[in-house]
Amino acid sequence: MDDHDEPGTARPSRKTVLRAALAAGAAAPALLLGVPALARTRTASPGTSLEPTPTCDDGDDPTPPQMEGPYFKPNSPRRTSLLEAGTPGVRLTVSGYVFGRGCQPIPGVLLDFWQADNNGAYDNTGFRFRGHQFTDARGAFQLTTIVPGLYPGRTRHIHVKAQAPGRPVLTTQLYFPNEPRNATDALFDPRLLMTVRDAGGAREAAFDFVLDVTQSPGPSPTPTTPPPGGGTWTAGTVYRAGDRVTYGGRGYVCLQAHTAQPGWEPPNAPALWRAG
Ligand SMILES: [Fe+2]
Repeated sequence: MDDHDEPGTARPSRKTVLRAALAAGAAAPALLLGVPALARTRTASPGTSLEPTPTCDDGDDPTPPQMEGPYFKPNSPRRTSLLEAGTPGVRLTVSGYVFGRGCQPIPGVLLDFWQADNNGAYDNTGFRFRGHQFTDARGAFQLTTIVPGLYPGRTRHIHVKAQAPGRPVLTTQLYFPNEPRNATDALFDPRLLMTVRDAGGAREAAFDFVLDVTQSPGPSPTPTTPPPGGGTWTAGTVYRAGDRVTYGGRGYVCLQAHTAQPGWEPPNAPALWRAG
């Protein structure tokens, strides 16, 4: 489905939920691995037990491909920031996740970005505004750059190639909402719109890729309950609000019921745990 739900869409897509969580603050990304749980967390009353995490059934189509265009260059530098000293332009971060068809995030995905500079020009001799990176263990990426300038015949866009380990390359482009030229650029595809918000003179964009990678849900771990007195934080344990654990030698109190997962360690999940 389109990840940019119009008002009236029956249910939010996973990506819509992700974006809402991203917009909610820095604490959210650590929670995103359990997106279905997160979606339900938003509606559950504090302290109530949650249903077991449902099977992911988002219905998302893979991110559509787009033409490479004439300006791709291989062998870009590995870097998450394309900013260089004195770079003019409105600062932009693009954050998101890469998923497979099974709604599971994919670590180690190669993302190679290239874009025009503030004046709409590509660097075809060097590597300005070109760089590649890999998604982290949570399938997340973040690109720091500038809002690309416009050039004749096109609306504003960022080029990207995405490749899961051992899989084909997806070549596509990302677009900005509320651009007048979106209406006249024949290549523009609303499925490739980022969400973009202002952030103190800069822009913060979000986009999640779905690669055509088959994933099986895998065996779900059997949840366990914490031992009396809490014990050491352990992935797979079902914690209730008020449960106490230790992690890294510190004590934490559970703020809302959840099943612990790698990446949700108490120091990484302030929405779930507070020190105390
Ligand atoms: Fe381009």
